[in-house]
Amino acid sequence: MSEPLVLGIETSCDETGVGLVRGHTLLADAVASSVDEHARFGGVVPEVASRAHLEAMVPTIERACETAGVRLHDVDAIAVTSGPGLAGALMVGVAAAKALAIGLGKPIYGVNHLAAHVAVDQLEHGPLPEPCLAMLVSGGHSSLLRVTDVTIGVDPLGATIDDAAGEAFDKVARLLGLPFPGGPHIDRAAREGDSVYVDFPRGLTSRRDLERHRFDFSFSGLKTAVARWVEARERSGEPVPVNDVAASFQEAVCDVLTRKAIDAAQTQGIEDILIGGGVAANSRLRAMAEERAAAKGIRVRVPRPGLCTDNGAMVAALGAEMVSRGRTPSALDHPADSSLPVTEVLV
Ligand code: KG4
Ligand code: ZN
Repeated sequence: MSEPLVLGIETSCDETGVGLVRGHTLLADAVASSVDEHARFGGVVPEVASRAHLEAMVPTIERACETAGVRLHDVDAIAVTSGPGLAGALMVGVAAAKALAIGLGKPIYGVNHLAAHVAVDQLEHGPLPEPCLAMLVSGGHSSLLRVTDVTIGVDPLGATIDDAAGEAFDKVARLLGLPFPGGPHIDRAAREGDSVYVDFPRGLTSRRDLERHRFDFSFSGLKTAVARWVEARERSGEPVPVNDVAASFQEAVCDVLTRKAIDAAQTQGIEDILIGGGVAANSRLRAMAEERAAAKGIRVRVPRPGLCTDNGAMVAALGAEMVSRGRTPSALDHPADSSLPVTEVLV
């Protein structure tokens, strides 16, 4: 077969993503986000997200086909995020994918959202180095994974034991009076701030913690430290230097993430680190990872920001890889699984 044309559908959180990919070539990446509808609640409201997916699904599929200049009948396979994510939101995408698969008589691949965050980099930087060390950091997950063949499985080396990295960005942004989602706002504020203004704690980096949690993360203590610091300032009647606190907080997160990713790569004898997920859009994380990794002879790959946040192209990219490598498609009655383990890349 020539390179497979795959339609990918992503609905695990608040983005309705529909991507079209041929092999490793991105043809279209249509995204409709319900983020504005959640902003006043300070976090994603599952029922609101599900309803928004339902309304956005058909127009987003049409937009993707139009951009790519392909008809639905031309696709070789449908790929969809089966988990992990919000149960109701996932169900909308999985139901839409099944309807397309049945209607078009094409195979369906129910894939893992995290593995899709890894596979998407192929659209920008070509085939993945095997093995590579993937660091996935987003609103819902923070993990270090050893990836040899992303269509077969990934090996988790560590993960957050409490908040995800993006969650910490969102919560700290809220403390500082910045809008949701907070990551991009902290990133921007931090550019004007002093990153050594406050020496915030680096979670799970003490010698004792490293014995048990060498490749795990913890961000809830950092979030509490920022909250206490801000409260103390407010009590004393002094203004809170938002840019400096944002920069100091961001520095603490990026310091721990990059240190642990490089340590994991070195321990595994891996020379390529791939960073994915919404927090990979962070400018300081990108710069620090590149600088520190280069000093150790390790290469860093980060997709462009639009491919780091949730999108349909990443699902299509993983689906295309499944087709190219001859993996068996999913059953038509495969369920959406909100807690799909990271080790299960194809349902
Ligand atoms: O991957 P994603 O779109 O959705 C999830 O699967 O969670 O990630 C969203 C997360 C949010 O927490 C958001 O604040 C964070 O990614 N984020 C950032 C930046 N852009 C998005 N965090 C730090 N810096 C950024 N520039
Ligand atoms: Zn994600």
